[in-house]
Amino acid sequence: MRMTYTSDLWWKNAVVYCLDVETFKDGDGDGIGDFRGLTQEIDYLADLGVTCLWLMPFYPTANRDDGYDVTDFYSVDPRLGTLGDFVEFMRTAHDRGMRVIADLVVNHTSDRHPWFLEARKGKDAPMRDWFVWKDEPGPEPEQVVFPDQEDSVWERDDRSGQYYLHSFYKHQPDLNMGNPEVRDEISRILGFWMELGLAGFRVDAVPFLIENVSPQLGEPHEVLAGLRAFMTRRKGNSVLLGEVNLPYKELVSYFGDGLGDELTMCFDFTVMQRAWLALARREAAPLVAALRERPDAPKDAQWATFLRNHDELTLDQLSDEERQEVFRAFGPEERMQIFGRGLRRRMPGMFDGDLRRMKLAYSLMFSLPGTPVIFYGEEIGLGENLDVEGRMAVRTPMQWSKDGGFSPAEPVRPMPGGRFGPEHVNVEDQKRDTDSLLRWFQLLIERYRECPELAWGEYEPLDAGHPAVHAHRSDADGATVVAVHNLGDEAVEAEVELDGLAGSLLTDLLVDGTVEVPESGPVRLPLDPYGTRWLRVSARKKPAEDASIKAH
Ligand code: GLC
Repeated sequence: MRMTYTSDLWWKNAVVYCLDVETFKDGDGDGIGDFRGLTQEIDYLADLGVTCLWLMPFYPTANRDDGYDVTDFYSVDPRLGTLGDFVEFMRTAHDRGMRVIADLVVNHTSDRHPWFLEARKGKDAPMRDWFVWKDEPGPEPEQVVFPDQEDSVWERDDRSGQYYLHSFYKHQPDLNMGNPEVRDEISRILGFWMELGLAGFRVDAVPFLIENVSPQLGEPHEVLAGLRAFMTRRKGNSVLLGEVNLPYKELVSYFGDGLGDELTMCFDFTVMQRAWLALARREAAPLVAALRERPDAPKDAQWATFLRNHDELTLDQLSDEERQEVFRAFGPEERMQIFGRGLRRRMPGMFDGDLRRMKLAYSLMFSLPGTPVIFYGEEIGLGENLDVEGRMAVRTPMQWSKDGGFSPAEPVRPMPGGRFGPEHVNVEDQKRDTDSLLRWFQLLIERYRECPELAWGEYEPLDAGHPAVHAHRSDADGATVVAVHNLGDEAVEAEVELDGLAGSLLTDLLVDGTVEVPESGPVRLPLDPYGTRWLRVSARKKPAEDASIKAH
């Protein structure tokens, strides 16, 4: 597929922005974010250049896992608004050209969901088989997901004496995907929200979701293919973006082996973790190795790149030594770490507030092949609040102005204090400051959208003659962009060999400057400490021939 079809395959170079309605903007003054507040800020998101919003769970919930414990899949948490507010929000987002996807949390329900309440009435209850029961506890995984709170994935139900499966907290019983009625119901849920305008879903906990399909019902992956087929019948360009934190070898099958008929996009947890190792070492090599190892996504599928999400910044795919290295560099204190495998910090704290380094890291992320996913607040350098429990430390309210600006009331979660408090980090100030992180994000997004070859293209790492420099080129449809990033804190002169581009012009897309590729030998590119350059290649002599047409 040629890049001229970027709009058909919109997810291939989208800019996805993840937010929690609860912490984004309070529209009714009760201290809790809501759809009315979010709708007021749609223009902010559109100006930033976001093309697709990902809403974290906004459904009625027991709220013991921040909404990932749903009690009704067909409605809106009354604290966040009404279905009417949701539809008004959707209408406004669409008006500004933005698509919306939402979390689909169907591996489990809350133990207060009416389905589970019905199911636990007894062994013969009609909905019993919607969940997974055993007379004796079944097999245990090597490690439970939340080791601070759980030590088993089986919980005894006192009334029947049987045990139910819960891959996550014990208050989140796993649905039985082996039951066709459950799968039909999930399709109904997808259909319901698509009818209200969603362009797709971020699928929570995918490997857990398909692992309990009984063998007689066929291959577990058929469940995903079934969901995708259902969605495609309803809306051809809808997407499933999957949370699959597995090494590439296992992960790639979630795209749909050979056929590409399962997840449309998968988060790249490997590149994320290797990027942090590279940043910690100030060396490009770990990241280059991951990108070389990364399998191609099937034809119309795409990788989703990210540096942070709403959970712990997991480092579970690194070796113990590598993980300790990242901990030492970016989260040395025990209270900054969580579950023994991750960090509950955001980037500004990890980089000790160094704006140059933050700009470098995001420039690198946007330049890599794939679709970038931003977690709300990253664009202004929102910090964490370690006084807030567990993973919630990174889910504090958005900081709109010096006085917070999130709500006139006490906010649902306390904002950080000190140098990352709203007085120093907020949208309003950064809008006025041309050197701010927010402005940098706007520029990166604008350029990223103008250069679809970055997202779509063939990644080729380039030797830059210096271990701190990550240099690569992306080629697609005869167009080329070269990106050079200095992960180190000293100025360097990169020497980059560009095969087949002798005599071309390299136009700097982020700052002023044009460089000519010499007829022989490497091109020399000076880089500041944490410096970054994106260079569009064009022919020097016959510019007309180079004018490939691009649709955005
Ligand atoms: C996913 C979510 C996480 C949640 C868990 C259980 O991993 O990202 O936030 O706690 O699933 O639903």
